[in-house]
Formats: sequence, C-alpha cells, structure tokens
Amino acid sequence: MSYRYIGNKTRLLPILLDSFSKVVKDGATVADIMCGTASVSEALRTSEYRVIASDMMTFAAHHARVRLLLSEEPKFGKIGLKGYASVLTHLNQLKLRKGVFFKEYSPDGNPENGGEPRKYFSGENAGRIDAITAQLNQWQVDETISETENSLLRHDLVLASNRVANIAGTYGHHRSKWGTSALASLELRPATLLAGHRTDHTVHQGQAETVAPLIEADLCYIDPPYMKRQYAANYHIIETIARGDSPEAVGVSGLRPWRDQYSDFCSKVKIRDAFRTIFKSAQCGQFMISYSEDGLLTEEQLMELFSEFGTVSLQKIPFARFRSNAGGQGGTVMEYLFHIKR
Ligand SMILES: C[S@@+](CC[C@H](N)C(=O)[O-])C[C@H]1O[C@@H](n2cnc3c(N)ncnc32)[C@H](O)[C@@H]1O
Repeated sequence: MSYRYIGNKTRLLPILLDSFSKVVKDGATVADIMCGTASVSEALRTSEYRVIASDMMTFAAHHARVRLLLSEEPKFGKIGLKGYASVLTHLNQLKLRKGVFFKEYSPDGNPENGGEPRKYFSGENAGRIDAITAQLNQWQVDETISETENSLLRHDLVLASNRVANIAGTYGHHRSKWGTSALASLELRPATLLAGHRTDHTVHQGQAETVAPLIEADLCYIDPPYMKRQYAANYHIIETIARGDSPEAVGVSGLRPWRDQYSDFCSKVKIRDAFRTIFKSAQCGQFMISYSEDGLLTEEQLMELFSEFGTVSLQKIPFARFRSNAGGQGGTVMEYLFHIKR
C-alpha cells in the first residue's frame, strides 16, 4: 500500500521490528497507539505479535481494521452482489452525484461560503466520491454491511482518492495547476489482504490520552507528530471520506471543523503532559517512542521527560526527510527510537 503520509514508518519497519524483538517475547501483545496508515501494526501482525492499534483519525481506524482483522475477502453476503470484486465494480459504475465533494472540493462546484471553487478533485472525480459515499452510507444505515466490510470499502475509497487528489503532499492546500494524476479517473481497486496471520487484534479510535487506560500490553509503541502541523488539518479531506459525513467547509482550503481532533503533541506547551497521561494510564511495562531530530522537543528534553517513568535508552537512525512535491528541506535527519522500561 503506497501512502504519502507525514511520519509514515514504512521505510523504518525492519529496524523497528528488530528493536521490538529485543525487548518482548514471541507472540507478545504490542500496542501501536498512533497507528496512522497502520504500517507498523501490519508489520507487527506479520511478525505474529498480537496488536492493539489506535489513532484519533477515522481513516486510520479503517486502515488498521483492514490491515489487522482481514485475512480473506469479506463475503458482502447481504448486498446481493457476488463478492468483493462485484461490489467494487458496482461502486465504480455508479452514476455521478453532485454532493458535498462536487460542491466544495471541485472546480465545477460553488462553495457554501461564497469563496472561489476549490481544486482538490476534478468535477468528475468529486462526483464519483459523492456517489460512492452515498451508497456506502445507505448500506450502513440499512445494516447491509458489517463494520469491517464498511472499513474495507472506505479504506479503498481513501486510497483511490489519494491517487487522484490535486495536492502537493498533504491536503492542507490544493494545487493551483492540475497534475497529471489528478486528471485520471478515480477507481476503486481491490486491497491486498494479508493471508495466513493471526487476526485476534483490537482496533480503537480516539485520542491516545483517552484510549491509554484500555491498553494492556507488553510493549506500547508511540509514534507521535513531531511538528506543529496538525494531522486533522492536513488530512481533513480523507477524514471526511472516511466518515462519509457532510461537514461545513471552512476557509480557502475547505477545512472541516477539526478541534475535536486537535493534537496536544503538536504543542510545545502541552506535549509533556500528553505523554505523561499516556505513561500513567497505560498498563504497560515498556514503551518505545519514535521522534525526530527536527521535532518540537530536543533529545535532552525528551530524555529528561521519559526518565520520570523508568530507565531510558536511545537508538539513533539516519532517515530521509519528509518532502512535499513543492520542495522542502530534503536531506537526512536523525530519527530517534527511545525505550522506556519501568
Ligand atoms: C507520525 S504519524 C504515525 C505514522 C504511522 N506510524 C505510520 O506508519 O503511518 C502520527 C499519528 O498520530 C496521530 N495522533 C496525533 N495526536 C494524537 C493523539 N493525541 N492521539 C491519538 N493519535 C494521535 C495522527 O493522527 C497520526 O496518524
């Protein structure tokens, strides 16, 4: 699954898994409480750990359900179509619909706030997102699809939308000119499901500080944001796709109201207490925390904070910087992996 997501750990997986395996036994329970694309959760599953995945974003919970709970295509028995492939064909062939995406996020629309039409998706692709979303919402209301079936189809729609979004890296802004991929037609493609691995995993959704009391694990991996950029603001469009709702589209970028998904980890003032809340309430003897040399807190500040909770060690891994199409710094940055043992 290719996914441009700030802080995506796909390229670090071998190092992370090696470090995890040194501190927990085979088959241990490992939590990934800011799972994002669920790349680390999936790698833990393939290594036969039991995983508890969580994130505050709805799309992340869909990704985690698909990557952890499914090992074969669901039956979609109540829809009356012949399985996953037929469901995707049906959704890909729906008549376009002029809904919230067409109106708020395509150049053919006219935003409710009276602003300039936005260019996140071509009019056709926005109409496809609206049509597919309306169908999925209907199936949910009718209880025609299960929670995992719903997550699989919304996961597919998020990935299909990512492939044709007219953006440079994140959904913070759309591009003013059209990229080639943004002019291609949106198409749902079948997800690759992981066969032959355990499925006794758990997925939660919510702020880690609130979910922490539910975490009972041998190791808790925390991969927080390390900059001021809020995920909820940078990925607001796929959050709306994942929820299938029609929120107010605010300002030039058409942001959904996202205060409920504000992260204290993006604030230099609040981050320490956010970490403390998690360490205090999770039932867990060990933590591993990813952080970046470019982050809000320095290595020394993190050491001092983490030392309140146990013995801390630090591994430093050279890593290529996240870069948007628009440019950015590039080069190599040190990625930190802290280990706390109570
Ligand atoms: C660096 S990314 C994680 C990337 C992930 N490991 C991956 O490989 O895709 C940070 C994640 O933390 C989530 N997040 C930020 N603050 C949070 C909070 N307070 N509680 C739960 N999740 C949070 C964001 O939604 C984002 O998905």
